[in-house]
Amino acid sequence: MTDQYAVIGNPIGHTKSPVIHRLFAESCGQQIEYTAIEGSTTDFAGDVARFKAQGGRGMNITAPFKLQAFELATQPSQRARLARAANAFKFEDEAVLADNFDGVGLLRDIEHNLGQPLDGRRVLLLGAGGAVRGALLPFLAASPARLVLVNRDMVKARVLENEVNDPRLLLSTYEDLAGQWFDLVINATSASLTGELPPVPESVFTNATLAYELAYGRGLTPFLQVAKKAGVDTLADGVGMLVEQAAEAFEWWRGVRPQTGAVIQRLTVPLT
Ligand code: ATR
Repeated sequence: MTDQYAVIGNPIGHTKSPVIHRLFAESCGQQIEYTAIEGSTTDFAGDVARFKAQGGRGMNITAPFKLQAFELATQPSQRARLARAANAFKFEDEAVLADNFDGVGLLRDIEHNLGQPLDGRRVLLLGAGGAVRGALLPFLAASPARLVLVNRDMVKARVLENEVNDPRLLLSTYEDLAGQWFDLVINATSASLTGELPPVPESVFTNATLAYELAYGRGLTPFLQVAKKAGVDTLADGVGMLVEQAAEAFEWWRGVRPQTGAVIQRLTVPLT
């Protein structure tokens, strides 16, 4: 039987994962089947068990199941443990291995595809939710000169700071960002999903070379509009992160690293 993989989420109609993995499999000469499963909000564990019992080899997990996926894992990676969330499973006999590739996917898109290494640069991360949890370890490992995390709810930010326990991570309120500048500004809040703008002062963009919006396919979000107005050279949305995290999972499952450039190009929606 062809090796079976799937993405599970709810809703799942919008998912790009099957097309991404189909393109990867074609380009790498791998025989796989990759489907989309609308997970039950009351029986996620049952859905996973059924897919595994059918011979499933691995899964991607998307909203709202990433936290439950972490709970279900028998062998979570360190990244998944810090994020307390998993976005990929690999099934090996009875074991459920879990990882979280969102952060490494984001980092690879920024450094490799957009040509903006974090090493020695000033980085501002907006938000303290699941997306930031996944990004912190890979970002710190990339040696930024300064990594500042800003969030409206400072209690949430402090919890994260304590868990990471790395003196290189600095916290700020939005107000205290006034007058500060950064090289890279990354919006990992969910504000753009509702068309909102995080209360970030325009000054943070003054010297910035990249403004990155994790939401994808939404064109110029309010965050990217402000960055554009401030003259930031490179504006990006999360399409590259989406494809790169998929590539990490594909390599983890199949032992082959797919090329991502053409797939990113194919899924890119112009930022207008
Ligand atoms: P996700 O898993 O997508 O990161 P989440 O865990 O619900 O989602 O976290 C959402 C993040 O977006 C939080 O950091 C939230 O900030 P608060 O913790 O202060 O609520 C942030 N967020 C959502 N809407 C925002 C807005 N309009 N302005 C600024 N931050 C916003």
